[in-house]
Amino acid sequence: MSTLPRFTLPLPAADFLRDYWQRKPLLARASATGLAIPDPDTLAGLALEEGVESRLIMGAQDSPWTLRHGPFDEDDFRTLPEQNWTLLVQSVDYCLTEVSLLLDSFDFLPPWRLEDIMISYAVRGGSVGPHFDQYDVFLIQASGQRRWQLGPACDADTPLQPHDSLRLLADMPVQEEHLLGPGDVLYIPPGVAHWGIAEDDDCVTWSVGFRAPRRADLLARLTDECLADMPETLFTDPGRDLPQDAAGLSDADVQALTEQALSLLTPERTRRALMQLLSEPRQGNQNGPDFAGLDFEVDTGHIRAAAPHATLVRRGSTRLLADASGLWLNGEHVPLPDDSRGLGTYLASRRLYDAPSLAQHAGEAGMELLNEWIEQGFFVSLE
Ligand code: SIN
Ligand code: CO
Repeated sequence: MSTLPRFTLPLPAADFLRDYWQRKPLLARASATGLAIPDPDTLAGLALEEGVESRLIMGAQDSPWTLRHGPFDEDDFRTLPEQNWTLLVQSVDYCLTEVSLLLDSFDFLPPWRLEDIMISYAVRGGSVGPHFDQYDVFLIQASGQRRWQLGPACDADTPLQPHDSLRLLADMPVQEEHLLGPGDVLYIPPGVAHWGIAEDDDCVTWSVGFRAPRRADLLARLTDECLADMPETLFTDPGRDLPQDAAGLSDADVQALTEQALSLLTPERTRRALMQLLSEPRQGNQNGPDFAGLDFEVDTGHIRAAAPHATLVRRGSTRLLADASGLWLNGEHVPLPDDSRGLGTYLASRRLYDAPSLAQHAGEAGMELLNEWIEQGFFVSLE
């Protein structure tokens, strides 16, 4: 039977957000299904592709760690040892639309907060070593067993092993240990030390990662976008008081200068800049305007069998956000025709669409736009 990937939180979403999200790990046993696609050969095939980000990590507790970046060739895989290696493929959801459908299970968070799905394949003993990530992650065991050890919260001062490119912890006191089998899920907040070692061959783990923009990048983008096409306006100070500080800059002037500068960041301009930034595909996967993810075949037969009511699917590499001004598609703003105002919200809030809902949300002009997007590869018809 064909099933789509699915994750269900084992507690009410509001409780998860209050007690666990960004705060503490959560083990959710038997909470994910439909993880048979991709098989290990398909995953290895992705690691041969030029536009796909992949890594091969070898090593274990008492043998040295090495990291190699893809793309790999078939000989690289033929010469691997029997134990202690992991192949990691980043943004598999961008390449395999079937995998991206898991993300609909994460609707307890806003869509802009999702980043991508990495999938790892390991043989016995394989791991990426003890480390911490800066981002939240849901680790979903798809096949085989992996033993996860969890340690304390870490930060930039936590001592690391001397390695050029792998940021491995010098020491990881184990505070919790869990053996995960197929369908088990472990949520880990940013900073928490973790180390997952494959207990058997064919150990496949999906990592749902989240987008947390760097604050400096947000500020840079806001100022860039708000200053674009801005008419030159100068500082003004009618009715000013006599200077209290004859030699420098008074606090009142600091305040007036700052306020006048920040007044350029109007709510409309900042919303526009943020919608653009947050609807852009993941950095590292952007290959100019022809995003690599659009080249991958969609397994429409599988999706059709698993979701018989769906007539349209969003391509895994299509990132969408919507607001009152229209739809934001991979960083581009598209105003919606008058007869299809609700189409943006419908398209951006899920990945599978059915004919009655499409007819309800899109008029003739909206359907035409949708057909253009199907031709360009942003959506795929299942009919
Ligand atoms: C893995 O899948 O082996 C590693 C994922 C992680 O630790 O973040
Ligand atoms: Co990690």
